Amino acid sequence: MISKAMTEALNEQMNFEFYSSTIYLSMSAYCNHKGLDGFASWFYNQYKEEMIHAMKMYDYILDQGHAVELAACPKPETDFGSALDIFETTLGHEREVTKRIYALVDLALEERDHGTNSFLQWFVNEQVEEESTVSSIIDKVKLVEGTGNGIFMLNNELGQRPAPATTV
Ligand code: FEO
Repeated sequence: MISKAMTEALNEQMNFEFYSSTIYLSMSAYCNHKGLDGFASWFYNQYKEEMIHAMKMYDYILDQGHAVELAACPKPETDFGSALDIFETTLGHEREVTKRIYALVDLALEERDHGTNSFLQWFVNEQVEEESTVSSIIDKVKLVEGTGNGIFMLNNELGQRPAPATTV
């Protein structure tokens, strides 16, 4: 059993994860339009990851016997600038997600809700991995920016990212 405050907070985060998915889908479309198919594929897989995150929260809220409340997502941007800009925007967004996940953990600990704290640890670990992955891509983009060959090679590398193991 989870509290009303926790249910509301989880619903809010579930909707933020859906919003994240639309941002990454929009980034994927932008990259595709620019001819960067590998970048587009990377962001398409990121879109799927975010859908999985949202659905984990959706399932947890229902499993706890509470109502899921879907909300309208803000319209995502459609112009993301350079290869460096797009990954810096991604890192900024992931840091915001991390802040929100930590706030949920704080609430779970405050309420002595050990079940939800345990559930949230998956997200804590996921955020460490996501921030690290995006930071290392930013380092690579900085190395090759301005060189057509470098962007071409990075585009090929990003296109190798496998689709998430779990589908929704
Ligand atoms: Fe669901 Fe990328 O955080």
